[in-house]
Amino acid sequence: MDAIKDRYRLVRRVGEGGAGVVYQAADALLGRTVAIKALHQRLAVDLLRGEGRSLARLNHPNVVSVHDLVEDRGRWYLILEYVDGCHLDQWLAEHGPLRPEHAVETFRCVARAVQQAHQLGILHCDIKPANVLVSVSGEVKLTDFTLAHLLAAGSFRGPGGGSAGYAAPEQMAGLAVDERTDVYALGALLRRLAGSLEQASEPPRQIEVTIARATAPNPEDRYPTVEAMLASLPDGNGQVTRLASCSTVSDLTRVDPITRQEKQPARVRWLALPTGGLAAAAVLASVAAFSHFTAQASPVRVTLPDLVTSQSRSAQLIVHSLALRDRLHRAYSPTVPSGTVMRQQPAPGPVLKGSTIDLVVSEGPRPVAVPDLRSMSQAAAVGALRRLGLKVAIQTEDSISHDSGTILGQSPAAQTRLLPGATVTVTVSTKPWYWPF
Ligand SMILES: Nc1ncnc2c1ncn2[C@@H]1O[C@H](COP(=O)(O)OP(=O)(O)O)[C@@H](O)[C@H]1O
Ligand SMILES: [Mg+2]
Repeated sequence: MDAIKDRYRLVRRVGEGGAGVVYQAADALLGRTVAIKALHQRLAVDLLRGEGRSLARLNHPNVVSVHDLVEDRGRWYLILEYVDGCHLDQWLAEHGPLRPEHAVETFRCVARAVQQAHQLGILHCDIKPANVLVSVSGEVKLTDFTLAHLLAAGSFRGPGGGSAGYAAPEQMAGLAVDERTDVYALGALLRRLAGSLEQASEPPRQIEVTIARATAPNPEDRYPTVEAMLASLPDGNGQVTRLASCSTVSDLTRVDPITRQEKQPARVRWLALPTGGLAAAAVLASVAAFSHFTAQASPVRVTLPDLVTSQSRSAQLIVHSLALRDRLHRAYSPTVPSGTVMRQQPAPGPVLKGSTIDLVVSEGPRPVAVPDLRSMSQAAAVGALRRLGLKVAIQTEDSISHDSGTILGQSPAAQTRLLPGATVTVTVSTKPWYWPF
């Protein structure tokens, strides 16, 4: 069975990392949008299975949830909650570094997710902005557990390598890793969030001290746990952080990081993208606190796939899963099977969320009314039926009162509606064998 092809309709490619490619897809069975991650073919499938198992253990508002792990013709796919938005690198490229207090609140979201992972015996080993997703409504979610390890008793060797600037020295060297390896990456993430790297603003002393201790080269000098690191940070206001909504384009991978100096022209260019459009659904209450951002109040766009040749029911589910409405129209077609979408309006491509999609669904061939054939000659009746696309079956009946070859009866009766290709049986008169004329 084509487990992926039968159930999921790929909408677009949303991103790519070192390990795999992620697609947005519509789950036709459950009528929702999902993300599908496939690993590059050269990589061991165990990595994806491991990622699926790690995610399945976790249940945290700041971690992407996993729906399923599916095999299809020898390849494995991870079906994930789809986060409509961008990753933190893209978000920061667009908005610039956060104010220190907001950097800390955003950081806490990620750190609490990592904290839960550690409590469940999972090391992430790849914490970095490209693996933190920001939804259009501003939620922050940690993803990409490809390098994650289950903490066995004692320590284990790191994956060897990692993302420069975020992976701790012991991980890069392939030495033993533990919670402090993730603490290092969290320290680097906090530094990126607070913006000291970009010299945009000086993080307050307390944050700098935390960053310095978390990113100490020697694990012994770091915070022993994420909890200890969190405790050293200044108190937030305790509110759940949501970031200002981020832009989405039809292919997020097209977003080039922009420097702060380039920011203004880049924004204009962005608006000019034909398939782009700034996505800013709900500018949430907490955005008020982020008043230094220009909150974009433009409508959210989704990418409408090609629905022609889909069954009407699955096309409707796909439309609903993209937060769109459907309007069905019926039309006869001699060629398209009944129940299949023949036309769609608008065409595939970006459309505003909530808009209505017109779907023209085939009713199959137009039925025809059977003519009244009685008293016609056999040749005329057969000609009339064939012209309507109907088949003819002939049976004979002796009659002395009708000319030979006259239609005496028909089944079904005149005016019955039949689909082309159906058979009409006609009764034709013949002379009895004893009749002399
Ligand atoms: N659940 C998701 N929803 C939306 N986009 C996602 C999701 N997961 C990943 N992405 C996008 O795909 C990119 C690559 O995914 P990731 O899991 O990090 O793959 P890799 O292991 O190859 O780094 C991410 O940086 C992000 O842009
Ligand atoms: Mg990644």
